[in-house]
Amino acid sequence: MKIIQVENYNQMSKEAASLLIDEISKNPSLAIGFCTGGTPLGLYKELIKSYKNKKVDFSMVKSFNLDEYYPIKKSNTNSFYYYMFHNLFNHINIKKTNIHIFNGDSKNPDRECLDYEKKIKRNSIDIQIIGVGVNGHIGFNEPGSFFASKTRKVKLSKQTLKINSKYFKNSKKIPTYALTVGIGTIIGAKKIILLASGKNKAAAIKCLYEREDPCFPVSFLRKHKDLTVIIDKKAGSLLK
Ligand code: F6R
Repeated sequence: MKIIQVENYNQMSKEAASLLIDEISKNPSLAIGFCTGGTPLGLYKELIKSYKNKKVDFSMVKSFNLDEYYPIKKSNTNSFYYYMFHNLFNHINIKKTNIHIFNGDSKNPDRECLDYEKKIKRNSIDIQIIGVGVNGHIGFNEPGSFFASKTRKVKLSKQTLKINSKYFKNSKKIPTYALTVGIGTIIGAKKIILLASGKNKAAAIKCLYEREDPCFPVSFLRKHKDLTVIIDKKAGSLLK
């Protein structure tokens, strides 16, 4: 794994944007796996800025989001569907037909997951952008998830519900399930860029660096051949 340690969140975002823009310039029809949450917001702002300055073209880029709450409607401002359009897709020239996000309102979540897995397999992700939960989750693969896990419906852990409920106006309205790309599928991406900022991510990053441990699913990414970890000083504070 390649670790790039920078001073702060803004530098992490700039570094990630420059790597991604470089990859898009080499392959304009790049298939990108996107994540949500607080971590990639700065990266998305940088991408929008670069698009407005004509430094990057998303017209052929394909996107596959990593996860979605279940059940949730697209129109819900807490859905990852809403997040992606609001924070990135509405501001760049990506084609709507090239955007793939779970339908969090599907009547048949198992079928939705099987179909999503097939879509990813057909296209294959070139670069997966990924954040990490305080408990080491990636996507919504919570601690205890298997290395070979596939795309599926999962129950969110108490810790994740507590942390993520801050984004909900009524914290009791947070869905207790989610649809997530599995660890085995994430590992299938050609390249992975992991971002982490802040002291509360330091334990997960330490585990990723030191050993494979199902208590911190992020540590399974150690097995990947092309993993770049971009962290700020606080997230890297437990590394020797
Ligand atoms: C979101 C996702 C999650 C987040 C993680 C960290 O699509 O995959 O695993 O990356 O919960 O969230 P933040 O960035 O809000 O700390």
